[in-house]
Amino acid sequence: MIFDTHAHYTDERFDTDRDELLRSMQKNNVGLILNAASNLEEMPKIIDLAERYPFIYGAVGIHPSDVATATDGYLDKIREYAKHSKIKAIGEIGLDYYWTTDTKEQQQKIFAEQIELARELMLPVIIHDREAHADTYRILKENKVWECGGVYHCYSGSAEMVEQIVNELNMYIAFGGTVTFKNAHKPCESAKAVPSDRLLIETDSPYLAPTPYRGKRNSSLYLTSVIDKLAELRGVTAEEIENITEQNGRKLFNI
Ligand code: NI
Repeated sequence: MIFDTHAHYTDERFDTDRDELLRSMQKNNVGLILNAASNLEEMPKIIDLAERYPFIYGAVGIHPSDVATATDGYLDKIREYAKHSKIKAIGEIGLDYYWTTDTKEQQQKIFAEQIELARELMLPVIIHDREAHADTYRILKENKVWECGGVYHCYSGSAEMVEQIVNELNMYIAFGGTVTFKNAHKPCESAKAVPSDRLLIETDSPYLAPTPYRGKRNSSLYLTSVIDKLAELRGVTAEEIENITEQNGRKLFNI
């Protein structure tokens, strides 16, 4: 079965047909989905979806573009939500120097605090790193992320960094629609460099729909395009990609 390790089905773009879409997943071979949170307001919605669908799990955390919402006591609130049996990770957390450059210091502080919480709870982290490769790596290392593990979501770093992320940080690396884009040289090189036991797939729905759906609302049903591309890049069958990424996802998120 297919495991979509990163989606946002709480997004308002699914308001018109969310239940209908989610009910169609299992008969289309999408057997597991993990929704990531961006802010506190979203966390009850993540939990609600996880409670209503046996194959849906969740993560709770503050996205780097939402650090302004991390007000006093935010960590205690995340800690409470994280106690839910279907919350399997802290995320998405990290640094975004593309959309938000004026809050770098605040982003770094909130990021480090959430890694510390993940270690306390022994939950893996889900990392958002956009145009912030060096600082993301440094903060993960300084905060001993290898103790709880985690995943670089929608990996956009270099193939050279893959080895350090896997071996020094003890993390997994996830790929989505970007590997199918035209001129996607860098993510494709990276996707070839990840060891089989550290590879994951994801959609980041409703964002980043793969070719030939690029620009449309993404959904887990389109993951077959990503699977086919990874199979081609790595010289294995699509079935093998599907199987290893399911096993890897279950291991990382303890499902
Ligand atoms: Ni995301």
